[in-house]
Amino acid sequence: MCGIFGYVGTRDAAPLLIGGLKALEYRGYDSAGLYVVGAGCIKAVGQVKNLEAKVGDTMKGHVGLAHTRWATHGVPSEINSHPHSDCTGKVWLAHNGIIENYSELKDELIAKGHQFKSATDTEVAAHLIEENLKTMPVFADALLAMLKMVRGTYGFVIASDQDPEKLYIARKGSPIVLGIGEGENFVASDPSAIVPYTKKVIYLNDGEWAEITSSSYKLFDLDGHEIAREPQVIAWDVEQTQKGGYDHYMLKEIMEGDNVIKNTLAGRLDEEALSIKLPELADVEDRLKDIKRIIITSCGTALYAGWVGEYLIEEYAKVPVECEYASEFRYRSPIVEPGTMIMTITQSGETADTLAALREAKRQGAMIVSIVNTVGSTIARESDAVIYNQIGPEIGVASTKAFMSQVTLLTAFAIKLAELKGVVTAEANKDIVREILALPEKIKTILEAREDIKAVAQKYASYDDFLFMGRKYTFPIAFEGALKLKEISYVHAEGYGAGEMKHGPIAMIDEKFPTVALCLNDSVYEKMISNVQEIKARSGRVLALATVGDETMKKMADEVIYVPAIMEMLEPVLCVVPLQLFAYYIGTGRGYDVDKPRNLAKSVTVE
Ligand code: M6R
Repeated sequence: MCGIFGYVGTRDAAPLLIGGLKALEYRGYDSAGLYVVGAGCIKAVGQVKNLEAKVGDTMKGHVGLAHTRWATHGVPSEINSHPHSDCTGKVWLAHNGIIENYSELKDELIAKGHQFKSATDTEVAAHLIEENLKTMPVFADALLAMLKMVRGTYGFVIASDQDPEKLYIARKGSPIVLGIGEGENFVASDPSAIVPYTKKVIYLNDGEWAEITSSSYKLFDLDGHEIAREPQVIAWDVEQTQKGGYDHYMLKEIMEGDNVIKNTLAGRLDEEALSIKLPELADVEDRLKDIKRIIITSCGTALYAGWVGEYLIEEYAKVPVECEYASEFRYRSPIVEPGTMIMTITQSGETADTLAALREAKRQGAMIVSIVNTVGSTIARESDAVIYNQIGPEIGVASTKAFMSQVTLLTAFAIKLAELKGVVTAEANKDIVREILALPEKIKTILEAREDIKAVAQKYASYDDFLFMGRKYTFPIAFEGALKLKEISYVHAEGYGAGEMKHGPIAMIDEKFPTVALCLNDSVYEKMISNVQEIKARSGRVLALATVGDETMKKMADEVIYVPAIMEMLEPVLCVVPLQLFAYYIGTGRGYDVDKPRNLAKSVTVE
C-alpha cells in the first residue's frame, strides 16, 4: 500500500530517498514526502517526480526517511502526506498501517496542549513520543512507550533531532525490512527498494523494533529485550526489479510466462521419474495424509487461482474443497473442524484480509499451508508450510505472472496430495507431469503471437462492456480475464459461468455488449458451443478462445484467439495468458498507465 524508505550513512540522503520512493511507486500512492535530518521536510501531492522537482539539490544531510502515501485518513494533500512531526518539529516519522485508537489519543493530546496539523491517524504517534519525552529522557524509551499506546497496525520509520545519527523502525502488521550495507543502512517497506544497494536484509516480525546507525543495528522486542538475528540474503537481482526493456512491468511479467512455469517447478519436478516433489511439505506430510477438508481463502486474483485449486484438488485428490473470499471468511464465524487444512494464496504475503483469515483459522487449530511469492512475508512466516512461487518480485499492480505460478503450484499440490492420499498412483500421474513439462513451450507460442492478440484487442478497444464466460476449468479464468480488463482499462467487464447465462446475464447481450467465450476442446466444449450460438442469435459479438485447429469456432465466432491443445486440468494456466495480453493491449490502447491503475495498490495491507 504506502511505501517507506529510509537511509542512514555517509552519502547525501535526499537522492537515495527519492530513488527508494521511485522503486516503491508500483505499490500505489497519491502523495509523497521526505525528511532529512538537519535539512527539513518537503512534501508533494501526486507522483514522486513532483517531490523530486521540489527537492532539487537543496537538502544536505546523511540521515533521512521518505514515504509514498495512499490515503486512509484525510484526503491526499501535502498536509496529510508523510512524514509527520510533533509540535516541536524534532520528531519525524512515516507510517504504514492504521492506528485504530488515534481519535481518543488525539483528544487526550489536544487536551494536553498539542497542536495537530493533519487529519491523519499517523500524526498522533509523533505527538505521543513528544509527550513521553517529557518524562523519559531516552528517545528509545519514549518511542517504546508510544508503541505500547497505539492500537492497530504499523510499520514505522522514525528520526529525531535528539539522536540525529539514528533511525528507528518498528513493525506490527505492516512490513518493514532493514537492509545492511557497508557503512550505511537502509530501511524499506518492501525489499525491492533495497536490492539496488544491498542484498543483506533483516525482516522485522510483528512486535519488534530496531535502532539503526550507519554502522550498526539493534533489534528489540516490545519488552525492550534485545533480539539476535542474522541477516538473510535476498536472491533477486536488480535486473528483476526493472522493466527489462518492455514498456511496462505488466507486459514484462506476462512475457516471463514460460520462465515463470520453469522457475515455479524448479526443484519440484523430476523429469526422469516424471513425478512431482514438494519438499517444503515434508514436515506436514503425515498431517496431509489425514486431512478431510480444505478451505482455500484469498483475495482478488489469488482467490481465482484458488477456485482453480478447488476443481483440481477435488477431481484429483478427492478431498472436499471450498474456496472463499478472505474478507468474508474472517467475519462470518467460519467453522473449522478438526481435520481441516487452510490454504492461503498470496503474492505479497501481506494482504490484510488473507492474513486475518489465516489467523482466525489458526486460532481454531487448523494447519495452514500457503502459496506465497514474497519470501519472509508475514503470511509466509505464520504458515505451517509454505510453497514459494520462486518467480521474483511482481511489480505490476495487475497480478499476472503470480497467477500463472499459483495455478501451477496448485496443480502440483493436487497431484502430490492425490499420491499421499493413495487415490492415484505415481504411475497414473506421469501423463500429467509430461503435459506440465510441455507447458512452457505452449505458453511461449501464445506470447510469440502477441501482435495478433494486439490486433484483436484493437478491434474491441471501443466497447465499454464485456462479458467473459467459461465453464469447469475455464470458469475461474472468465472471472480473472474480466478482473484484468476492468482493473487496467476501467472497462466494465463481468465474469460468468456459461451455464448461468440463461439465468440473467443473457438479457444484457446486444451488439454493443461483446462476449469473450472460453471454448476449448474439453469435456464442456459442446455446452460452450450452445452458449455461443445463443449469444450470436441475439446479435452479440463473440471473441472466442479456442483450441488450435478448431474450424467450427472460426465459423461461429467473430474473432478467434487460438491456444495450443492441452489437457483439461491445465487449461487455466494457458488460457489466462491471452486474456492478460488482451487486457494489456486494451488498457494501453486507451492510453492508460497499466502499471499504476487508478485507485489500486499492489499490496492491500489495510481492510
Ligand atoms: O498479494 P495478494 O496476492 O494477496 O493480493 C491479492 C489481491 O489484492 C490481488 O490479486 C489483486 O486482486 C490484483 N490487483 C489483481 O490483479
